[in-house]
Amino acid sequence: MPTKAIILGVIATLVVVTAIAITFSVLIPHEPEPVDPIKTKNMQKIEVGERIKLPEPSYTSNVSVEEALSKRRSIRAYSGESLTVEEVSQLLWAAQGITSPGGGRTAPSAGALYPLELYLVVGDVEGIDKGVYRYRPEEHDLEKVKDGDVRAELAEAALGQECVKDAAIDIVFTAVYERTTWKYGERGIRYVHIEAGHAAQNVYLQAVSLDLVTVVIGAFIDSEVKEIMNMQEQETPLYIMPVGRKG
Ligand SMILES: Cc1cc2nc3c(=O)[nH]c(=O)nc-3n(C[C@H](O)[C@H](O)[C@H](O)COP(=O)(O)O)c2cc1C
Repeated sequence: MPTKAIILGVIATLVVVTAIAITFSVLIPHEPEPVDPIKTKNMQKIEVGERIKLPEPSYTSNVSVEEALSKRRSIRAYSGESLTVEEVSQLLWAAQGITSPGGGRTAPSAGALYPLELYLVVGDVEGIDKGVYRYRPEEHDLEKVKDGDVRAELAEAALGQECVKDAAIDIVFTAVYERTTWKYGERGIRYVHIEAGHAAQNVYLQAVSLDLVTVVIGAFIDSEVKEIMNMQEQETPLYIMPVGRKG
């Protein structure tokens, strides 16, 4: 009977589809949900490879661009107080946050090739344990790359500059030159350095707006910084920006 054959056919198809779905769900590893420090409140131990959700940045403030520009200063002494996860989120977004559906960011980039990577060294942030994290602009989250407080080691690599150790966090800018030089050749190196300047200035201005202070550090031993931060081979560190409350 044709109706019976159709019903049997539908059932057989459903069984096969379900079997395939179960097989794939077992074979393909599920990404764990990123930890949300705002929801969990307590300091939660994050394992290397795990992610932390960052709160949505704020798009308004009471500090004008003019005020931020006139107050911007390089400050190397900090109070020793912690930062909040909201402040960290805002600073990273200012440096390299996504601001358009097409992937445009807060800082311009030659050919929209985005050669910069940002790392966050956490010393003292409410809700985020000490360690080294990579900022992922597309997801606006952090991925842990190393456990523990590396600020003292990083300060040593920065020729003993104490501000790197004393800050609540250090934001480390690195470059993957090949992302830009495949298109622009040698001139791409110049473009990458210019871009780091744009992104770092954004952090300076955002820091003023949050009533925080910072400085750009260019004096350090590249190989040591790379090793301390567990960086990828193709990355070159360009800047370290310690951030804290004014001391
Ligand atoms: C490329 C570059 C590298 C820098 N490196 C360091 C550094 O290693 N250590 C430091 O304390 N300041 C460093 N600075 C900050 C300058 O000392 C600072 O900008 C300058 O004294 C002017 O002060 P202002 O930023 O408060 O206007 C650097 C600045 C630039 C632009």
